Amino acid sequence: MTTSQEGSAQRESKGARTYLMCPPEYFTVTYTINPWMNPDDPVDLSLARRQWEQLRDTYQSLGHTVRIVDAEPDLPDMVFAANGATVIDGKVLGSRFKYAERAAEGPAYLNWFRQHGYSTVVEAQHMNEGEGDIVFAARAIIAGHGFRSDEAVSGEVAELFGLPVISVRLVNPHFYHLDTALIVLDPDTAAYYPGAFDDAGRAALAAHFPELIEAKEEDADVLGLNGLSDGRHVVLPVQAVNLAAQIGAAGFDVVPVDLSEFKKAGGGPKCCTLELR
Ligand code: ARG
Repeated sequence: MTTSQEGSAQRESKGARTYLMCPPEYFTVTYTINPWMNPDDPVDLSLARRQWEQLRDTYQSLGHTVRIVDAEPDLPDMVFAANGATVIDGKVLGSRFKYAERAAEGPAYLNWFRQHGYSTVVEAQHMNEGEGDIVFAARAIIAGHGFRSDEAVSGEVAELFGLPVISVRLVNPHFYHLDTALIVLDPDTAAYYPGAFDDAGRAALAAHFPELIEAKEEDADVLGLNGLSDGRHVVLPVQAVNLAAQIGAAGFDVVPVDLSEFKKAGGGPKCCTLELR
């Protein structure tokens, strides 16, 4: 199944995207809410800034629009915009963070949407960390739970966005958000790290995606699945060497980026990006 389309023609571009990003002005690692975070391993902020700018420039050079939400002091993880909300068809579901350290990011992102002309802005009933766990897959939404988001949020998601929701449990604390273990490349194709899911989750993903690429442990362990596809180009952590080859063989153009400083907080390019659909 993994290799059914290997060597296939290059994928078609699916048009320009709009992404929301938050500059890493106050980015640092001072608390530990996932196994990647170690406050004794300091962040090089000027390097982080350059890496973030390179990610922004990469999106722009691919023809995408990047919008900016201002960073807020005392919210060092706000740079991970993917967690700020979930936006599909112009409708916004707010995030409700698990940990107090990030709780104020929910209202901060919702304010941005209210101030920028979004009329359907819904405050979530259940705990959820936005696109970190709620992953859009065109004909369905894949919702991860087990560490940060409540399983029950899938009902809210289905109702607001009018799409079927496939709920999967995350079982490995290193892959605490779904977007650390699953990347949707186009409506029919995804890559995932099997070790992050239970049997039921693996079966559900295999049933949904006609083409499912299995990432190796060594690529998952560099947060290599935390990338972003526009249907043709796949912005991927440069460290994910094998995964880049697998995704390239499936006909996508891999665009490597280095976000090493953000990995110290358990994040990567996808975490720094919220797609505004
Ligand atoms: N330090 C952040 C946290 O643990 C990282 C968030 C990564 N975001 C993501 N979409 N996976 O919450």
